[in-house]
Amino acid sequence: MVARAPGAETAGMTRTLTRTPVAIVGGGPAGLMLSHLLALAGIESVVVEIRTRREIEETHRAGILEQDSVRLLVDSGASDRVLTEGDEHEGIDLAFGGARHRIDFRALVGASCHLYPQTEVFKDLADLQLREGRDVRFGVSDVSVVDVESARPGVLFTDADGAEHELRCDFLVGADGSRSTCRRAVPEPERRQYFREYPFAWFGILCEAPASAPELIYNHSETGFALISQRTPTLQRMYFQCPPDADADEWSDARIWEELQSRLGANGHTLHQGPITSRAVLPFRSFVQEPMRHGRMVLAGDAAHTVPPTGAKGLNLALADVRVLAEELERAVRADDPALLDDYSTRALGRVWKAQHFSYWMTTMLHSLPDATPFDVRRQEGELASLVASTAGSTYLAEGYTGWPTG
Ligand code: PHB
Repeated sequence: MVARAPGAETAGMTRTLTRTPVAIVGGGPAGLMLSHLLALAGIESVVVEIRTRREIEETHRAGILEQDSVRLLVDSGASDRVLTEGDEHEGIDLAFGGARHRIDFRALVGASCHLYPQTEVFKDLADLQLREGRDVRFGVSDVSVVDVESARPGVLFTDADGAEHELRCDFLVGADGSRSTCRRAVPEPERRQYFREYPFAWFGILCEAPASAPELIYNHSETGFALISQRTPTLQRMYFQCPPDADADEWSDARIWEELQSRLGANGHTLHQGPITSRAVLPFRSFVQEPMRHGRMVLAGDAAHTVPPTGAKGLNLALADVRVLAEELERAVRADDPALLDDYSTRALGRVWKAQHFSYWMTTMLHSLPDATPFDVRRQEGELASLVASTAGSTYLAEGYTGWPTG
């Protein structure tokens, strides 16, 4: 039950106090999906999010859903659109050494993935929460988490109309993205952080053009990596490796196309061009914070881990986290016992590190490293050649790309 108590007087301002079993900081796909799964289990939650709905909808993120992510969206009743409007892909092309090589997921592992952008997943979940009348507050500010180590942690925030709130809960979930406030609330001696920076970034564009290939092309060339992805029959998503300090606004359209065409051209492919409608430089880093529980607070999705975008694991990992978390939270809420959430951290981290390795491996195998020696360059070509020539190697890629079973 969510109980609203009359306001408490703090520093001259009236704060509205709300009680909820589960407070979720972050209303992106991880937070909203968790709230939905908890609701299906009969557990109420309140979600607070600093961005407005519109801001989230206008942020372009990756577009590939693993098989189990699709299943979760469909089976939980969150999205049918993924099946009707998403595009099933049964493989990808790896392009290098002057040619393209298809990795056939269906033949290798009997699985597929769906091209369905993260923004659409978000819209489905936000619409659903609205339809079901669940408590989701977008556009809040001044969010802080308090008393994380107590039996009743809290979230303080100002709502979109400027009114101050205090949310008290039995369990607090930090699903507040890569700049997580919740993550920082874990005292330093209680947390381990693992980082890796990469000496490059991705230049991402959206362009109005027909698709250049039926599936995604992961393109390795001497001048750097490029990824040809899609959005709709008339809108395409493309990326190319660039220096981490590149300024997206400094690049003319002509220069962008020249870069993309020359990288794909090295492997015998030509892209359909069209007006570029959006551009941004995406940072590359790997990050994990362990454990994913501290007292009555747990972390989920990007708040606990970030992967580089190669292989599109970010959203999939977040959905896998909350699937496990919903199960574990249900037990913990019913027993009012935070120790039950240790299983969550252990179970989630198993997959997190597999995905960290997969994203790191795809990244380092396909990108040009600025300080690579001629030996490094030839070795990398040897790695790609042995991967596509080996059923075992290709199967490993297919398995990781379509996603390890969540059980
Ligand atoms: C995308 O479509 O945005 C996308 C697809 C695959 C990736 C990364 C991003 O590996």
